[in-house]
Amino acid sequence: MSIAPVDPTTTEAWQALREHIQQMAAQHIDLRTWFAGQPTRAADLTFQAADLRVDLSKNLIHPRTLTLLLQLADQVGLRSRIEAMFTGEHINVTENRAVLHTALRLPPGSPTLMVDGQDVTAGVHHELTRFLTFAATVRDGVHTGVTGKPFETVVNIGIGGSDLGPAMVYQALTPYRGRIKARFVSNVDPSDIGDTLAALDPETTLFIVASKTFTTLETLTNARLARAWLLEMLHARGVVTSAETATQAVAKHFVAVSTARDKVAEFGINPDNAFGFWDWVGGRYSVDSAIGTVLAVSLGPQVFREFLAGFNAMDTHLRMTPYDRNVPVLLGLLNIWYVNFWDARTHAVLPYAQHLARFPAYLQQLTMESNGKSVRWNGEPVTTTTGEVFWGEPGTNGQHAFFQLLHQGTQLVPTDFIAFANPPVPLQDGDQDVHELLLANCIAQTSALAFGKTPEEVRAEGTPEAIVPARVFTGNRPSTTIMAPALTPSVLGQLIALYEHITLVQGTIWGIDSFDQWGVELGKALAAKVTPALKGEESALTELDPSSQALVQYYRSVRVHP
Ligand code: F6P
Repeated sequence: MSIAPVDPTTTEAWQALREHIQQMAAQHIDLRTWFAGQPTRAADLTFQAADLRVDLSKNLIHPRTLTLLLQLADQVGLRSRIEAMFTGEHINVTENRAVLHTALRLPPGSPTLMVDGQDVTAGVHHELTRFLTFAATVRDGVHTGVTGKPFETVVNIGIGGSDLGPAMVYQALTPYRGRIKARFVSNVDPSDIGDTLAALDPETTLFIVASKTFTTLETLTNARLARAWLLEMLHARGVVTSAETATQAVAKHFVAVSTARDKVAEFGINPDNAFGFWDWVGGRYSVDSAIGTVLAVSLGPQVFREFLAGFNAMDTHLRMTPYDRNVPVLLGLLNIWYVNFWDARTHAVLPYAQHLARFPAYLQQLTMESNGKSVRWNGEPVTTTTGEVFWGEPGTNGQHAFFQLLHQGTQLVPTDFIAFANPPVPLQDGDQDVHELLLANCIAQTSALAFGKTPEEVRAEGTPEAIVPARVFTGNRPSTTIMAPALTPSVLGQLIALYEHITLVQGTIWGIDSFDQWGVELGKALAAKVTPALKGEESALTELDPSSQALVQYYRSVRVHP
């Protein structure tokens, strides 16, 4: 096992933060007073990271809070861990791997990065060129379906990191879509692939089987179903008439993205149509690898390159910016502040951008698969609470659903508001710019959360005394506001990289390996034992726990087979 991480709770900074929060509580934290006492607070606590303007001023922090949090970062060795990541040390200890998603977005001409005897920079650019060139041939109608028709739909079959990132980005960059539409199939629920295929023309559909390991049950099942559908439909049209024509059809209509090229070949996909990446890219960090092939096909190679440039801009910010102005470092430390000193258990991400509707779901995998751990990277138990439940919905929809709890509930929920100055779809309602209605709501919500409404203000509106308590807003509910000029491919890359790095900062403070995911394995293994029991194998049934046995028996008693 590797060197023990520093236990954050034993550092001087941690003790000082404990005392600091007690002093804050004794002095009654009040954002109204803090803003009144420091007229430059908004400017002092607003930072720029590439194109992102990040306002931390509505957080429950004093200047001293940040000083102490930055000391904590120093005392646990954050700087050296970030460098270790960028230089390819095996910081994914439990899998003995480097963590190099930052290498995926190194611009052309970057210096050689040698890791484990391999030229990572050259490998990344070689594979990038391969899948972008392939995408161009599909878009140009050079690579067609087996009947010579150009592709109109590309279906990405993958799950987790091989689905959430591409699906989220495809929606986020809606204005950049072209002739070829993308669809995403992930769930092993047959409704997912069944509903998707029902609307498609086999002659103009390209399938991308995306799986880092090429062993994932959901993805391989869906890939087999898609292959069977393709061959059956083309057979019905007289196109597939023999084993040879079937092979030709699969070769034209299926490509794969994986680190396991041998398994791709076993599936029957031509290795020339397989795009690779490396074990040092975690699934949830892979949208900027060949896993983005579906994006290169549907949005175009140039959009994909701009997307990568955005990631790289945030990587440079992380590596080069002093920590007192370093946005991912500050936001990661703020999350520590809320989780470990304010007992926050969840974190809301609220995009005021309909196209970012899947961003919270994407962040759930990124943050919770990374930092939902109870042991540190040397195998010892963690010494404090780790991880938060990330969740959210686009504004303004969330306002009419769960914001009540944010404003008046008993739990502290730190929130990230994300908004853009320029709308992707500008519309006027009479003389009203509709985007301004959206932005007004975003800004107003951060203000209401921070400053609330006092009993005196409620009374001054003529509210009957009995109802005053119900109409008071305590305020002092923290939010961070992230704004950018527009949701471009580059800005989206910056946003994703920002949250990747926030996740790394938190994991480092807690001493956990943010790059493994052993917690997903047990359920997978047990599902393999339940499947034969559902099929009717009595010996498999008896091996299950009593509750699971009863569930299987209930299933058998009510399942109607066609
Ligand atoms: O089960 C979790 C997981 O391993 C994720 O980490 C990963 O993104 C997903 O499954 C899909 O894995 P693969 O890309 O290997 O199919």
